[in-house]
Amino acid sequence: MSAPWQALQQLAAEPFSLRQAFSDDAERAQRYQLAACGIELDYSKNLINEQRWQQLLALAKQSELCQLRSRMVAGEAINHTEQRSVGHMRLRLPEHALTTLDDQAVATEIRSCRQQMTALVNQLHAQSYLGYQGQPITDLIWVGIGGSLLGPQMACEALNPFNQSPVKIHFAGNIDGAVVHDLCQTLKPETSLVVVASKSFGTEETRQNALSLRQWFLDHGADQAAITRHFWATSSNIQAAADFGIMPEHILPMWDWVGGRYSIWSAIGLPLALQLGNEQFEQFLAGAHAMDQHFLQADLANNMPVVLALLGIWYINGMGCQSQALLPYNHYLRLLPSYVQQLDMESNGKQVDHAGQPLPCATAPVIWGDAGTNGQHAYHQLLHQSQLVIPADFILAAKPQHALTDHHLRLAAHCFAQTQALMQGKTIAEAKAECLAQGMSEQHAAMLAPHKASPGNKPSNTLLLPELSPFYLGALLALYEHKVFCQGAIWQLNSFDQWGVELGKQLSGPIYQALNGKPAPFDSSTSGLLASLQRHLTS
Ligand code: F6P
Repeated sequence: MSAPWQALQQLAAEPFSLRQAFSDDAERAQRYQLAACGIELDYSKNLINEQRWQQLLALAKQSELCQLRSRMVAGEAINHTEQRSVGHMRLRLPEHALTTLDDQAVATEIRSCRQQMTALVNQLHAQSYLGYQGQPITDLIWVGIGGSLLGPQMACEALNPFNQSPVKIHFAGNIDGAVVHDLCQTLKPETSLVVVASKSFGTEETRQNALSLRQWFLDHGADQAAITRHFWATSSNIQAAADFGIMPEHILPMWDWVGGRYSIWSAIGLPLALQLGNEQFEQFLAGAHAMDQHFLQADLANNMPVVLALLGIWYINGMGCQSQALLPYNHYLRLLPSYVQQLDMESNGKQVDHAGQPLPCATAPVIWGDAGTNGQHAYHQLLHQSQLVIPADFILAAKPQHALTDHHLRLAAHCFAQTQALMQGKTIAEAKAECLAQGMSEQHAAMLAPHKASPGNKPSNTLLLPELSPFYLGALLALYEHKVFCQGAIWQLNSFDQWGVELGKQLSGPIYQALNGKPAPFDSSTSGLLASLQRHLTS
């Protein structure tokens, strides 16, 4: 392990008290706060001081971060294992910036995709897109998985208060037949539009769900012309989509320079564009573009994605933390942790560096979480009192999207109180004094105090959005994208491939064949499980 990483671990081994740091420095909150695109970040409740922070910044400066960022912007194939450039930032360029893009062919393709999306959204909003029995489309079924689903599903949920669509949007991801089964129970084919979203158009789950939905149409008397009318695709594999029977005019493009988990800004964002309408969708793109500008222009010390990345590195590599909680205090953001899970864990959950050499240190954390305050009555106990140190990002929108103001003030109070409690904890002496003040006996108070005490010194960030609008959601997602990029750059790994998911896909084929009567030799556990399953299926 090289010197800067060792220095990090040495510094992390030194004692540090957050409570002390706050009482020693009245300016601490001001010292460790930042604003970008209207989003405020308070990172003062982290286990850092100036020495630690300077060491982290030195790590960023010595790394390839700035160079890799320039190479990404220049369109170089920084995803070198797949020989692909990484261009998701281009997808949120406003029109005037598109005209200055070096590669005007790409600008034309982006523009044309936007026009196709806009036209379809307009038709669906106007209810002029008629199904095979002449009725307007009332439901859109989005079939996709991973990056082709998590983004639009999360964003549609997050921006539900901005819903302007007469068409209801449904998502089918899991290959579990229950998903398609339930949709077919409630929807009607003659008023449903199916969009098969798959960059590769080869993902088993998506193909299977699309095939079952096509069969559903056939079972309801639809002919090939009707199916053609009701099926759309978004894919970079135009041939496979056409072979499936989707007509060229119904195929929205994707490009190999946009990774699945970075694709919400492309035609994969169609459900969100439909829900929001075109103008508000542009606001979503504008928020992400504003964060891109911040990321590209702000110096490292004042660059919000860099700051979040360095704090993450402090906990993972300095302190050996393996997990990171993402706690949106916002009901509408409840799917954000699942989205960031894919973004972070599929990007940086890697074992080798760019040169294929084993990485000397741990990388992506386990991302988990749910909307607050629900978690307070579930896993926060562990955050507060266990020996684990789990850094947490708390996210709050200042203005609510409803008029229940008192609910919102209570929500905000809980959000801030959690970060405060994690930071300051409660000493045994404080717990005992509290018990005595409540009238307990000396003996009872002494017995109870260690159980009621909290160690504190547990780190958190607080991100405050002015409101959960399309603009700020766009900015927030781009913030996490760039954070993941910065960490991957500092760890010197390729954040844009995902070879690890392939093995499971490969192995499922022979197991599926075995379930269909073509046995093969497996390990004894797999054979035993197959035998048990067959027994259940045939009993
Ligand atoms: O699970 C791997 C993965 O390739 C993800 O990276 C991707 O987002 C998802 O599958 C879906 O892929 P596709 O859009 O090609 O169907």
